Order: sequence, then C-alpha cells, then structure tokens
Amino acid sequence: MSIRRKLIAGNWKMNGLKAGSAELASALVANWTSGAPPACDVLVCPPFPLIVPVAAALAGSGIAVGAQDCHARPAGAHTGDVAAPLLADLGCAAVIVGHSERRADHGETDATVKAKAEAALAAGMIAIVCVGETLEQREAGRTLEVNTSQLRGSLPAGATPANTVIAYEPVWAIGTGRVATPAQAQEVHAVLRAELASLLGVESAAATRILYGGSMKPDNAAELLSLPDVDGGLIGGASLKAADFWAIVTAC
Ligand code: PGA
Repeated sequence: MSIRRKLIAGNWKMNGLKAGSAELASALVANWTSGAPPACDVLVCPPFPLIVPVAAALAGSGIAVGAQDCHARPAGAHTGDVAAPLLADLGCAAVIVGHSERRADHGETDATVKAKAEAALAAGMIAIVCVGETLEQREAGRTLEVNTSQLRGSLPAGATPANTVIAYEPVWAIGTGRVATPAQAQEVHAVLRAELASLLGVESAAATRILYGGSMKPDNAAELLSLPDVDGGLIGGASLKAADFWAIVTAC
C-alpha cells in the first residue's frame, strides 16, 4: 500500500459554457454521494470564469476545485492575467502550472513555471507542476533528460509533498488517443522520483505524488494507476464526461 493517496484531477481546458459546466459538476457530485467515498482525492479545474459556479455546485461534496494557470505576481498591472491569491479566495485548492499547452502557446519557460508554482504555494494552494517531452525529443532519445531538466527548473522553492504535485504528461499523448505504455510511464515516473530525491530528499520524494496525463481513459486507467510510481491522473478529454471521469476515479 502506497503512502501516497492518489489524486485524479480533471483539466477541462478551454471547454464548456455556464450551464453545461454546472451540469457536469452536479453529475460528479451525484456520483460522489451515491457510492462509497472514492479511494483518491478528486479535483476539477474549469476555465477561470467557471470556477465560481463550479465551486458552488461542488460545495458540500469532497470534490475540490482548482485552476489551470495563475500569474507569478500576487497583484498588479497584468491585463488579462489572474492572480493566485484571487484563485485561493474563490476556493481553489490547487493550480496547474506549466502545462505543455501553456509552455507552447504562451512561451512559458521553466523559470516562469517555477515562479507561478511559488505564487500558488504563497497563496496556500497546491501547485501541480507539469513536465513532459515532445515526440521529437522522445525519438531523439532525450526523454529522461528533458523531463528531469524541466523538473529541476520548474520545482518551486519550498516544495513539500503536501503542497506540490508533479504531472508527467508526454506531449505526444495529450489529446491524441495515443497513451504512454505502462512501461514508458513507469520509467519516467521512477526517474522523476529519483530526481525529486536528489532535490528534496528521499523521504519527501517517496511522499510526493506524480500524476500521469495524456489520453488517460476509463479503459486504460486501472493499468496506469496500478504502476508503482503513478499516483493519479491529470485527465483532459475524459474529464468532460461525468461517467468517464468517474470511471477513472473508481479505478483508483
Ligand atoms: P488528455 O489531456 O487527457 O485529453 O490527453 C491531458 C492533459 O493535457 O492534461
């Protein structure tokens, strides 16, 4: 039995409107209340404007709400950005930082991701720090080096098992239906944990959750979640359907 309680986190990305999102959240609450309590932590990360209504729909359940990004500064002249203290104030328990779509679409570097993760911690939230190699990097044999280097560069100062979660998301598996094989996932997770041991110490590394993300679905979740170093999932597409997301939750 692992000392790490698994976490299943839904990343809704830029999807949904007000009504559908409230319905999705209510369907998750119905699942939560109708069965035995899940054996894992459950989190959903809607787009910014939907955080408040989704948090309201989830209130009273054990399902937490989080955000998909935050700014590194706590306040100021940053048009269009959202500060971590506001997210915490709205009830967010966690923030995803450094997702590969943000690294690619917004030019986020490891230094940016680290600063954002530190902002999340300073606001009292969990930082979910994403790393992952592209297909080109994998084919060039650079997978382990890319992931450890992103981890070193993106890990917030003050990271502990309680405030920081790592998400390994191979870019080539995100939204493609092409999932990492159990061997591929376990290899990278084990190397990330070894890197965490050198950065934070063996005990902290052993207690830190490392999620897998990239086309995790009900039909492959149980196998991935049973791997020794896979401590949950960061779910994109399958988090938009209550039944699929809950099937992954129950696979824990
Ligand atoms: P996916 O996305 O499950 O749709 O592949 C995962 C993610 O990007 O977090």
